[in-house]
Amino acid sequence: MFSKWSIQLKYSLIFILTLVLIIAGLFIGIYTLKTVQLRNEAMASAEQVIAFRTWVANSGVVWVDHLSPEFRDFLGKRTSGDNTMEFFSKNPALATRELSEIVGKTATRATFRVTSDEYRNPANAPDPFESASIRTFKADHNQKYQDAFEGNFYRYSQPIFVQQSCLKCHGDPKDAPADVIEKYGDKRAFGYKVGDVRGIISVKLPDITLAEVFLTFLNPYTVVLIVLAFLLNFLFTQKAIIKRLKELALATERIAQGELDLPLQDNPGSRDEIDYVRHTIDLLRNSVVVAMRRLEKKLT
Ligand code: HEC
Repeated sequence: MFSKWSIQLKYSLIFILTLVLIIAGLFIGIYTLKTVQLRNEAMASAEQVIAFRTWVANSGVVWVDHLSPEFRDFLGKRTSGDNTMEFFSKNPALATRELSEIVGKTATRATFRVTSDEYRNPANAPDPFESASIRTFKADHNQKYQDAFEGNFYRYSQPIFVQQSCLKCHGDPKDAPADVIEKYGDKRAFGYKVGDVRGIISVKLPDITLAEVFLTFLNPYTVVLIVLAFLLNFLFTQKAIIKRLKELALATERIAQGELDLPLQDNPGSRDEIDYVRHTIDLLRNSVVVAMRRLEKKLT
C-alpha cells in the first residue's frame, strides 16, 4: 500500500509521526517537571509551617488577651491580679491549626495540617495517606518526605521531630503544665524523647491536570512554530528533491525516446545525490551514443 504513495505524502506522514513522538516525549518531561514543581511548592509551605511552630514552641505558648470569634479554642486561661483582664494560651499545635484554617481560606493553593499517630485532639486524627507517612518516617529517620497523587490532589508530608522545647508538654507528664493535663489528661502524647517523630506536616495541593498541561502547550506561539517547521520541511523536500527528480525523469524519458543530445540541466556548484544520478545518466547516454556510432559504422 505504502509503495504507491508519493515521497511527499510519505514524508509528510513521517513528519507528523516525528512530531507526535517529540510531543509525547515533551509531555513525559512536563509531567516529571510538574511533580517536581508540586513537591517544591509543598516543601516551601511545610517549611513555613515548621518555622511558625518553632516560633511558638520556643516561647512555650502564646498568650492572647481575647479570643477571636472564629477561634474559640485555647489551652489555659489566666486572670490578671486585679481581675480586670483575661488571657488565653495557645500551644504550638493549636496555633498551627488556626493558621491552617486561615491559610485554607486564602487564594493559596496549598493547604496544610499537623497530625500524629498519637493525637490529643480528635480534629488532628490522620487519614490513610498520613498514617502511612507516619509509619514510614518512624521506621526510617532519614526519609525527608513522602508524597502521592490522590484523586485530583497532590499529597505531601514531612516529619516533625521532637526538640528540647517540646518536652515540656510531650515528655514526662510530671513536667507538663497543668493546663495540658487538665485539657487532655496525662496519657496522650507523652513520653517522647528528643529526635523522635512526633507527627507530620501534611500538605495538600490541587494537581495540575492533563488538560492544563495541554492548554499550556496549545498556545499560539507553539502552533505557529510547528506550522513553520512543517512548511520548512515541505518546501525543502519539494524543491530540493521532488521537483528535481521529476525534471530528471522527464529529460531521461525524452533521451530514451531519441533526443540523444538533449542537455541535462546542470546545477552549477551543486554536488548532491541527485546530481550524481544525473551524471550517471549522462554517462549512460554517452555509452549509448558511442555504441550506436559503432553499429552505424559496421552497417555502412
Ligand atoms: C505548651 C505545651 C506544648 C508544647 C511546648 C508543644 N506542644 Fe505539641 N501539643 C500540645 C497540645 C496541648 C496538643 C494537643 C492538640 C491541639 O491543641 O491541637 C499538641 C499537639 C501536638 C501535635 C499534633 C497532634 C495532636 O496531638 O493532636 C504535634 C505533632 C505536636 N504537638 C508536636 C509538637 C512539637 C514538635 C513541639 C515542639 C516543637 C510541641 N508539640 C510543643 C502542647 C504542646
